[in-house]
Amino acid sequence: MKKILVTGGAGFIGSEFVRQKAKESKIVVVDKLTYAGDMRRLKEVRKKIIFYPADITNAEFMEHIFNKEKPDSVVHFAAESHVDRSTLEPHPFIVSNVLGTQVLLDAAKKTGVKRFIYISTDEIYGELGKKGKFKENMPLKPNSPYSATKASAELLVRAYYKTHQLPCIVVRPSNNYGPYQYPEKFIPLMITNLLNGKPIPVYGKGKQIRDWLHTADCCRGIDVILRKGKAGEIYNLGGESEYANLDVAMKVLDLLGKNDNCIKFVPDRPGHDFRYALYNSKIKRLGWKPSLSFESGLKRTVKWYKENEWWWKDIKDKLTRETKGFWT
Ligand SMILES: NC(=O)c1ccc[n+]([C@@H]2O[C@H](COP(=O)([O-])OP(=O)(O)OC[C@H]3O[C@@H](n4cnc5c(N)ncnc54)[C@H](O)[C@@H]3O)[C@@H](O)[C@H]2O)c1
Repeated sequence: MKKILVTGGAGFIGSEFVRQKAKESKIVVVDKLTYAGDMRRLKEVRKKIIFYPADITNAEFMEHIFNKEKPDSVVHFAAESHVDRSTLEPHPFIVSNVLGTQVLLDAAKKTGVKRFIYISTDEIYGELGKKGKFKENMPLKPNSPYSATKASAELLVRAYYKTHQLPCIVVRPSNNYGPYQYPEKFIPLMITNLLNGKPIPVYGKGKQIRDWLHTADCCRGIDVILRKGKAGEIYNLGGESEYANLDVAMKVLDLLGKNDNCIKFVPDRPGHDFRYALYNSKIKRLGWKPSLSFESGLKRTVKWYKENEWWWKDIKDKLTRETKGFWT
């Protein structure tokens, strides 16, 4: 792909994708820089990319950018992404995640984009019991306002493929972790709390199971789908590393030389899904599999946060002030 327009490229996963691809492709980043967006994630590639500080819901401006830049492909990451925030204030999720996706689909249709990759999530399937895994042909049963907006946008993507033959692909990654993740999310929240000498909050009894995927592997998978995926298809992208939240907490404690006295159990999140897990056979047929084990990925991630306080310290202080310690 010659020119890729990346929405949400200043976010956690989008910025990893931009750092990987800026070596070989022309990249245009569109990002509104919400509380979760941060250009410091792109410092090493800033001179190689074109950046628009813009809201994807602004149809006129999006059309202008698409006409000016003429991207061959779009990788659409931009979204409100935190489940807890969506239960407290769902409106921005509906605006950015649903309306924003429709605006981009329209701009892509009008300018003849050759590939539109929509980054969805495994959360659109709802929850699993102890057994089984989600396959791409299973029904959408989202349980949180966040996952409901991601599923709604998927349906729009499907409609633009069917109605307008826009060459769209849907990707459903599992829970990501890695460097530069905003410290309200589970793994960086635990690491930064412990580095600040604070306890770590664990929802309920910590029994919920997630399938962890390092963000570098996630973005390599998205790139494989961009190059080899088939229009109209959906691809799961799972880490093949299932762990209960309490087990993840114990691993983080261990890596930082702490014991389980540092765990603070807090009331469970409303509508907290018990388990997600993905069949990866379809993406594996394109030649991708996760390259990092959870143990080595987590070790690297803890090391990164230890060495990069310059990135998260101020964000963490601000988050603590704004949420009155709710997520910290
Ligand atoms: N983090 C995960 O574990 C995970 C797992 C599966 C799927 N996803 C999906 O991957 C994508 C990226 O997730 P993330 O964790 O990097 O999120 P993030 O919150 O770190 O980044 C989102 C980015 O989108 C930007 N943005 C939000 N609304 C915008 C708008 N209206 N216009 C322009 N930019 C806007 C933000 O400024 C931010 O830079 C999301 O679509 C998310 O649903 C995330």
